[in-house]
Amino acid sequence: MRFEGGMVRPAPRRGAVVLMAAALVLPAGCARKTQPGDPLPGLNRSERARFARGQQVFKREFTPETGLGPLFNSTSCSECHEEPATGGSGDEVEVHATAFLIRSPGGGGPAPACDPLADQGGPVVQQHVTPALHDALGIDAEPVPPRATATGRRTTPSLLGFGLLDAVPDETILALADPDDRDRDGISGRPNYSADGRVGRFGRKAFVPTLREFNAGAFLNEQGITSPAQPIEETIGGKPIPSGVDPLPEPELSGEELDLAIDFVRFLAPPPRGAMDAGARRGEEVFETIGCAACHVPRLRTGTSGTRALRQAVVAAYTDLLLHDMGRDLADVCLGQATPSEFRTEPLMGLRLRSHFLHDGRAATVEDAIRRHAGEAGAARDRFGSLPDDRRRDLLAFLKTL
Ligand code: HEC
Ligand code: HEC
Repeated sequence: MRFEGGMVRPAPRRGAVVLMAAALVLPAGCARKTQPGDPLPGLNRSERARFARGQQVFKREFTPETGLGPLFNSTSCSECHEEPATGGSGDEVEVHATAFLIRSPGGGGPAPACDPLADQGGPVVQQHVTPALHDALGIDAEPVPPRATATGRRTTPSLLGFGLLDAVPDETILALADPDDRDRDGISGRPNYSADGRVGRFGRKAFVPTLREFNAGAFLNEQGITSPAQPIEETIGGKPIPSGVDPLPEPELSGEELDLAIDFVRFLAPPPRGAMDAGARRGEEVFETIGCAACHVPRLRTGTSGTRALRQAVVAAYTDLLLHDMGRDLADVCLGQATPSEFRTEPLMGLRLRSHFLHDGRAATVEDAIRRHAGEAGAARDRFGSLPDDRRRDLLAFLKTL
């Protein structure tokens, strides 16, 4: 059992009954255009109610008295995921640290292995501590694990539309993979896998298989909040928490509150697209012909889901959810099977709402982000670089509609 009772997804049959009831109460059409941060169109009344209640958990400011810490990065999910609406991106940057090792497993050749350094407080290195922990140990942040071979900075990504990415079947991701580059286009995307062997998709290294697990992990890693899915408080760089520093009994968040927060994220609608003019339409073609779409796959289809709005839906996320080698300059930490230079194709859905680009925010403009593509994306970058000015303008106009 991966999850405690009460946290398991509702059985599909029960979902179907809810859906039939919903069809009777839903209004025929909705005039208002979806705004960033809105719930998915097509949710039923009880799903919309869960979205609203879950948003309150997502926005809740925790204090040491209500479970915050002893290590944390921020006091609420929405303190980071806030632009241009709750659930969006943010300017907070956090630190990850792991160790990338070349091991020689029993007799075979050397194989790369990644140590998330859990025994030294990795992979997320928290930047803040509660006053009680500060008084006990005299530290202001978690120390970087001494065995780390690299640290990586991570900007806060947007979560709008991510429930749809959660509902894309594993088979779809596996079908897009081409680890040995059999089609010889120089692009060899491969999936990452969780420690127990499931296909990963969330986080910049695509290590986490489900939104449910990422969200439960975020309560613990970002806020030091335990839940039935993650009931054990983090160590302080591998050392036990001094007694009296975190007196609240675990779990600090109930299974029901966690479920609500997860539903809030699952039910966030993709951000609205901008209007396409003639230039943007030409740019969409350029995006295909110079090979951006080989990784930034324009559309994915979801599979089954207990939620009608997430079932058999098309999401224009512009990602294949696979790992690609992006070259040495972008490389930082490993995670799971992902080597330091491999990153998940960043979804371009909502691109026009962002103000900094690439996993650590090093690119101030979209054009700069493209010019920093290397490795498997080097050929597409070069084709971008040799576009005539008007075609490049068209491509950038198209990207501004995403
Ligand atoms: C300190 C800022 C911060 C806080 C607080 C925070 N996040 Fe995040 N969130 C991040 C960063 C940074 C990443 C990117 C991590 C990575 O790339 O591996 C992220 C990634 C995510 C993702 C995966 C997105 C993707 O691109 O695959 C989800 C889902 C998520 N956060 C949910 C939450 C929830 C739920 C909470 C509250 C419990 C929360 N976050 C609190 C900064 C934060
Ligand atoms: C080989 C796969 C691949 C190809 C081809 C590719 N990209 Fe990317 N793209 C990525 C990956 C992986 C990232 C994330 C890199 C990071 O965060 O450091 C990314 C990130 C981006 C970003 C930054 C998004 C953000 O919010 O941080 C933009 C913009 C982008 N790509 C546009 C393009 C365009 C335009 C093209 C075609 C010229 C292209 N990409 C070709 C894999 C690819």
